[in-house]
Amino acid sequence: MKLSRKRIEDFQKLIFDWWEKNRRDLPWRRTYDPYHILISEVMLQQTQVSRVLPKYREFVTVFPTVMELAKATPADVLRVWRGMGYNRRALYLRKTAVSVIHDHKGRFPKIESELRKLPGLGMYTARALLVFAYKQDISMVDTNIRQIITHYFFGGKAQPTIVIAGVADQLVPKGKSWAWHQALMDFGSSELKKIHPPWADRNGKKKTSIPFKETNRYFRGKVIDRLRDGSYNEKLFTVELSGLFGKSPQFVAGIIDRLKNDGLVCISKSGIIRLPER
Ligand code: ADE
Repeated sequence: MKLSRKRIEDFQKLIFDWWEKNRRDLPWRRTYDPYHILISEVMLQQTQVSRVLPKYREFVTVFPTVMELAKATPADVLRVWRGMGYNRRALYLRKTAVSVIHDHKGRFPKIESELRKLPGLGMYTARALLVFAYKQDISMVDTNIRQIITHYFFGGKAQPTIVIAGVADQLVPKGKSWAWHQALMDFGSSELKKIHPPWADRNGKKKTSIPFKETNRYFRGKVIDRLRDGSYNEKLFTVELSGLFGKSPQFVAGIIDRLKNDGLVCISKSGIIRLPER
């Protein structure tokens, strides 16, 4: 869909006028260090700003440079990640740090296709680095930006990704991509609630979901929480958690097996389960 100059400028004005009065001062907006920006972006996927703030500060204090993170063990990183959930994200961050040190002489690439080869970096995160660290004039689309565009340009009717991206491209103001996307982030987190209630699905219907405490993700998180504090005999550990969870030992063994495949836990030859030390 091709937008008129006027439509583009009106929308840019709507967003920037709103932002002048509502912008948030966030620590990852006070840096152009791609490593720090990557940490913030990975944390902000699935986790709200208020919960990310203290963890972001802690993480960049413990691992201030990409080198420190690359030198850390998965277990070290998972311990700092405590309370964040989606633990695989922490391992991806560490692997990315290792790759930046080993494959890129310690510097983050500045090309989307190269960034996307780093572990766990999808199109959104790659572009977030290009925009927020390198101020490149390109667009990026996360869930909130997609919803903003769907609401303002398509009357709330869901569109294919390519259509949304086409509009997003036209909207980026020349030379102001950094501010534009920060503004959209703030606008989205404040205003979308009013447009599109968080309990609603894409079609405005009430979402049906199973309670968090019955999801695999909940049990995976509980297993990792236990292992942050020590290592255990795997058989005894499985039996203990089975009692604690009110689930069969087979169920717990299945959870542990998948964590093992994801590299989040390891089991030694002598049957000790722990967080991976390498
Ligand atoms: N979510 C993702 N990136 C963000 C940013 N830079 N500021 C606020 N929320 C975000």
